[in-house]
Amino acid sequence: MTSERQAPAAASGHGGHGQGNHGGHGGHHHSHGHSHGGEDIDWAAMAAHLEREGELTLPELTGTARWLRGLTAGEGAGVRRVLDVGSGPGVAAGVFAQEFPGAQVVAVDGSAPLLERALERAAAAGLGPDRFTTVAADLPEDFGALGQADLIWSSRAVHHLGDQQDALNRLARALREGGLLAIAEDGLPLRFLPRDIGLGRPGLATRLDAVNAEWFTAMRAELPYAATVVEDWPELLRRAGLTPVGSRTFLTDLPAPLGPAARDQLHARLSRTREMMADDLAEDDLRTLDALLDDDSPHTIRSRPDAFFLTAYTVHAAVR
Ligand SMILES: C[S@@+](CC[C@H](N)C(=O)[O-])C[C@H]1O[C@@H](n2cnc3c(N)ncnc32)[C@H](O)[C@@H]1O
Repeated sequence: MTSERQAPAAASGHGGHGQGNHGGHGGHHHSHGHSHGGEDIDWAAMAAHLEREGELTLPELTGTARWLRGLTAGEGAGVRRVLDVGSGPGVAAGVFAQEFPGAQVVAVDGSAPLLERALERAAAAGLGPDRFTTVAADLPEDFGALGQADLIWSSRAVHHLGDQQDALNRLARALREGGLLAIAEDGLPLRFLPRDIGLGRPGLATRLDAVNAEWFTAMRAELPYAATVVEDWPELLRRAGLTPVGSRTFLTDLPAPLGPAARDQLHARLSRTREMMADDLAEDDLRTLDALLDDDSPHTIRSRPDAFFLTAYTVHAAVR
């Protein structure tokens, strides 16, 4: 089922609901707010988490939008319609609306509560229905509801679709001639503490990455239409009939000492890891995680002076 919504006339406050969670340590959020296979995580419950993570990377998202603008004809002048596919709460979509003032931006997602939040954010930023709308779409079934666009951005969403090549093919077909498709899937996993933190076995982050990688593979295997493919994104874009025009990596580098928002995000990510991957983690690593998550522990991630937030995402762009 699909439906199109427009921004409410009045701005509303920050939704901030839900528990800031993260589907894995390595930078992936998982499962669906709708009834596909997989882990069936409640996306709506991840609203605060996705929104905070977006806000922590606002400078990078702005850099991305500006880079993409430079890849379009006339520095974005011809861009009339922008899609953010798998938009979540619409942080990136809001940035695109700012950086492409002549375009209407459409946030597309399968989770209605996340789209509500995207509309609230847009209204608070003064973006009316001429500038910002949403489309509720369960993909891949509802690809037809997307319409045509001059620029399509999709970040960490294609990996939630079983057949990633098919998803790119369909996104490519939704582009107008000369339009640009930009996909962000891989990058670098989060680093957030030194190798040796004076607690437990050194190297916790790399062990969390390893568990997350296995979990990610299992998650993908359960998706409808699951198909494995070499995740060479420029090549996949080429096979979708597009011409790759560049790949760029955007680094988020928040050094210690961290502010409260980044600490909240680390706490949320680690809680998520603790919750979802407990069975696959060693006892000593679970104890370390518990100490990092315990607000009463001297090791709590909320006050450790050595906590930082370092990660990166790679964007692959291709033109029709
Ligand atoms: C990891 S979040 C990414 C959000 C945002 N693009 C970002 O990079 O932070 C994945 C998003 O894709 C949406 N999603 C997952 N599977 C979907 C599907 N089959 N159809 C439509 N949306 C889906 C989720 O609701 C969620 O908002």
